[in-house]
Amino acid sequence: MSRTSEMGPAEAFVAGLFASEDAHLLRLRATMEAEGLPAIQLPATTARALQLLLSLAGCRRVLEIGTLAGYSALWIARALPDGGQVVSIDRDPSRTGLARRLTASTEVSDRLEFRTGEAMDILEAEREKGAHWDAVFLDADKEDLPRYVAIARDLLLAGGLLLVDNALWKGQVADPGVEDQATEAIREMLRQVASDSGFDATILTVGDGLLVARRR
Ligand SMILES: C[S@@+](CC[C@H](N)C(=O)[O-])C[C@H]1O[C@@H](n2cnc3c(N)ncnc32)[C@H](O)[C@@H]1O
Repeated sequence: MSRTSEMGPAEAFVAGLFASEDAHLLRLRATMEAEGLPAIQLPATTARALQLLLSLAGCRRVLEIGTLAGYSALWIARALPDGGQVVSIDRDPSRTGLARRLTASTEVSDRLEFRTGEAMDILEAEREKGAHWDAVFLDADKEDLPRYVAIARDLLLAGGLLLVDNALWKGQVADPGVEDQATEAIREMLRQVASDSGFDATILTVGDGLLVARRR
């Protein structure tokens, strides 16, 4: 089931007014379904909020961890100015290949780069070479989130944005009875960011919760 169809009436109303999908995004979602990929891309409402945040913050270079088929990467690329760049990472080469193919004919293809690799390896390599990004968007596995965030912190320029999807994990982070590894890791990451004086942060309750943290 697509995450759009999981929306409640209020969120569907917002999506209808502010987050409509053009032919490229619709084709992308249809191809994902045809290829049997899970419909775990961002809801359009979250993607639209992400776009606005990136453009308000004047971001030019964005590192995304978790490509799937390039749905969120395409929304992000459209938030950037000419010459902007999204580098989107996935461990699955068939997914980065599909994303490349599905975005090649878009008007922002020159802003999109898809790389295959492990999240931790890529983040560590970026830190090692002293790279800096205007925004880092984490949307991959949850168990290592505290470590991803610790590295992403070092990659962000002052004023840069750390964005993490599924911050509410379907409400499970707020339920003390849920103690599985992913939920515990998300909770730990949220406490880590909330207590870090190097970030101004909150969770937007759009979709499954979007952590937004601005590097001081
Ligand atoms: C939720 S999907 C990303 C959705 C995408 N951001 C969108 O909204 O269109 C998560 C993706 O992260 C990838 N992934 C999971 N763990 C990873 C890891 N450790 N390193 C790299 N990619 C990973 C999965 O293969 C999957 O395609």
